[in-house]
Amino acid sequence: MADKKARLTVDGLEEVIELPVYTGTTGPDVVDVRALTSKGLFTYDPGFVSTAACESSITYIDGTKGVLLHGGYPIEQLAENSDYLEVCFLLLNGELPTPEQKEVFVKTVKNHTMVHEQMTHFFNGFRRDAHPMAIMVAVVGALSAFYHDSLDIDDAHHREVCAFRLIAKMPTIAAMCYKYSIGQPFQYPRNELDYADNFLQMMFGNPCQDYVTNPVLAKAMDRIFLLHADHEQNASTSTVRLAGSSGANPFACIASGIAALWGPAHGGANEAVLTMLQEIGDESNIDEFIKRAKDPEDSFRLMGFGHRVYRNFDPRAKVMKQTCDEVLAELGIENDPLLKIAKRLEQIALEDDYFIQRKLYPNVDFYSGIILKAIGIPTNMFTVIFALSRTIGWISHWSEFHSSPNKIGRPRQLYTGPTKRDYEKK
Ligand code: CMC
Repeated sequence: MADKKARLTVDGLEEVIELPVYTGTTGPDVVDVRALTSKGLFTYDPGFVSTAACESSITYIDGTKGVLLHGGYPIEQLAENSDYLEVCFLLLNGELPTPEQKEVFVKTVKNHTMVHEQMTHFFNGFRRDAHPMAIMVAVVGALSAFYHDSLDIDDAHHREVCAFRLIAKMPTIAAMCYKYSIGQPFQYPRNELDYADNFLQMMFGNPCQDYVTNPVLAKAMDRIFLLHADHEQNASTSTVRLAGSSGANPFACIASGIAALWGPAHGGANEAVLTMLQEIGDESNIDEFIKRAKDPEDSFRLMGFGHRVYRNFDPRAKVMKQTCDEVLAELGIENDPLLKIAKRLEQIALEDDYFIQRKLYPNVDFYSGIILKAIGIPTNMFTVIFALSRTIGWISHWSEFHSSPNKIGRPRQLYTGPTKRDYEKK
């Protein structure tokens, strides 16, 4: 694999350090810097902007060209021709399923949709106005207290059972978080329904009235799940891998991913987009917010714009924009005031030098929030839905980590604190 070498000279060090360079199937070559520690050197890369922390064959992103591939398949083609559960199979197994494999996969997911009845009591400990992400992070972590029979991380079958449990139970838990917050009884999963239909039924149905699915909204929901399914080594996935590297159980690892996702720079952005649009309030205020976003003295950023990896249009955002138009047309709300602000904001940002020079394009979360709002999902549930969707990515990376020889993750540092000094009472 190491067909090239990098040579490093360091002031004060006589030898030239030779480092192997590896070439993947596509994407930038990587320099193997592991030998540096034996020379008394570390690499320094805050924010991991130039660090490949692992080898992976699940997802590939070319940020400059705006390309996202799962198992080699472009996200646009998957969004057009596939569905969320098929993409789950692909992420876990590296190949698309045959019709028979898909049938077995879907059936197995359906067999795991209910949560242990005892878990319903867990919710009662929370205030009704708790943020649903706070409940979700706790409830998912607590799954390890209920499913002891699949916690052997060295057993491939246990890992698979955990993956099925997580894919199947996340919609149930997400909907329970919502139902608890509005004081309605939890809705049990309905296994005759498709994955997205079932989620909408658990969100909006109640014991007095069945939820009647609108196929356009169910398809949009499935697309939102699919477009968020995986995104390579982002902050939450890296968190899951790092937590997993210590040998922690999968439910605890996924809970750590949910916590990392919560922040507004990552999965919390979809909620932050809506909050921002509401704060802007009227098209006449847009210029002021654009000015603030460009002011280096102001910490305000345009939520839903920019991405660490994409320096081009986020390919997920293109599909999401199309889905957004379909949903708004179906619901007849093309004239929604927040949507008008969003469209104007998008236009201004795409024409403004500040955003053009920094290659700041609308990202996936710019449009997903608008769709979710149109479907009737409250803003504080947006990041919960991102977590539900991304769980397959997290568990696929966690499984990949445990399927090959691995090491505990342990970054080092550039120390700038005091050197050794003797204790003296102040
Ligand atoms: N609004 C205004 N300016 C921005 C923005 C923005 N949204 N994003 C980046 N910039 C500016 C930033 O101030 C900096 O300017 P300068 O070079 O003059 O200092 C330049 O662009 C580069 O920014 P950066 O902080 O080095 O970029 P990053 O790669 O570290 O940050 C980001 C990426 C996504 C955290 C950032 O773009 C951001 O905060 N965006 C808003 C939050 C958001 O929408 N997040 C969702 C990402 S997509 C979902 C997901 O995958 O999690």
